[in-house]
Amino acid sequence: MPSVVSPQDCLQDDAPAAQLRRAEPCLWLNPHRQSIPAARQAVAGDHISLDDTEKAAARFVRFAPLLESVFPELQATGGVIESPLLPASSLHAAAGLAAGQGALWIKADHRLPVAGSIKARGGIHEVLELAERLALQHGLLTPRSGADDYRALANPAARAVFARYTVAVGSTGNLGLSIGVAASALGFHAVVHMSADAKEWKKQRLRQRGVQVVEHAGDYEGAVAAGRAQAAQDPFSHFVDDERSLSLLLGYSAAALHLRQQLQDAGIAVDAQHPLFVYLPCGVGGAPAGITFGLRQVLGAHVHCFFAEPVQSPCFMVQMMAGQGAHPSVYDWGLTNRTEADGLAVPRASLPAAELMEPLLAGCFTVCDDTLFRQLVQVLDATGERIEPSAAAGLSGPGFLTGTETGRTWLHAQGLWPHLAQATHLVWTTGGLYVPPEAYARFEERGRALG
Ligand SMILES: Cc1ncc(COP(=O)(O)O)c(C=O)c1O
Repeated sequence: MPSVVSPQDCLQDDAPAAQLRRAEPCLWLNPHRQSIPAARQAVAGDHISLDDTEKAAARFVRFAPLLESVFPELQATGGVIESPLLPASSLHAAAGLAAGQGALWIKADHRLPVAGSIKARGGIHEVLELAERLALQHGLLTPRSGADDYRALANPAARAVFARYTVAVGSTGNLGLSIGVAASALGFHAVVHMSADAKEWKKQRLRQRGVQVVEHAGDYEGAVAAGRAQAAQDPFSHFVDDERSLSLLLGYSAAALHLRQQLQDAGIAVDAQHPLFVYLPCGVGGAPAGITFGLRQVLGAHVHCFFAEPVQSPCFMVQMMAGQGAHPSVYDWGLTNRTEADGLAVPRASLPAAELMEPLLAGCFTVCDDTLFRQLVQVLDATGERIEPSAAAGLSGPGFLTGTETGRTWLHAQGLWPHLAQATHLVWTTGGLYVPPEAYARFEERGRALG
């Protein structure tokens, strides 16, 4: 097998399951996707709708003045944590798009302030929801008044209340950064349980902000389980559960409302003649599932979301193939869960995320680490943007759809092929802002060595 494998190298006559087992890049298409999404979706014994996404977005708006006051980097945006939508025509070849196959854009979550990754959206939302609940319980905000100035939550009285509580999380790195930085900025005691693959600089960044970092020798699942067990013994501890939390999921979903506005502002139509393809890097699945839920609610039948995973950590793909009632891990498939894409190094998918995605997701594909490094350099050279390896995973998506037999057959079957020239391909780049220069230089060196 060549060291760099592109989607076009996939063995077309082979079922994705066989390719998956051999850790070769492959594309899986969801036979259960429903064209028109239900207004209310079942998830973890609950139901969620666009109303819940709008409530999450409204919470971000209520907290914006407070966020602006505690994070100097948010002064320019008035406390709004959002990322730009960037045209990326210079990356067409790198993404495997030929002329006449649509326009390429980047949703630049690698630039998201405060936490530097897609995990900022959900993580900060859950911390804000907790802070709001405690503030209401302790009379720091007035129920249903709508007139409260949330900057009051930075006062000593509010901070003294928050300081009594611990916010804990288990993470491969980026969710830990998001929760740790947000929770400690509001005055909570923050504890982050990190898996062995978490990068050293992420631990250092947290410690510098007064966050307690607990290092675990095992993988992501072990770090989450340890954090969950420890928090369960303390009634003043709130555990942010990356595998199960609805608050996280809805925080991510709020991105869809902002993206709808960005698409309108950029003059990008999304309708039957102008399909939108979105490619989202996937770890446990919460972030891409939340965004997909929001996008399907606001854009309906004409948005097609795909999750991108490392060839050794395709936990969401194996979960979607197995269906509800099963909960396989990538180890069951003989895979190692070893990848330089630390944010995606997850052996078993979130069950609520998988349940939510069953009728909504278009498909999943897998990518080799070498491809991630090569594309990270292509993004740098073509756009000047600095992304981390996990964030490059989506860039293989357009090539899978348009450059493989499986992808093309699906496009024809869905009636999308005739509209490809007017399509938009949106690659979600999910992390990178705070990667230290020396760590980025090593990524770049590895990508350039691959040619
Ligand atoms: C950079 C980056 N991209 C994507 C993801 C995927 O998010 P999730 O684990 O919720 O699927 C992560 C998760 O940490 C990440 O750090």
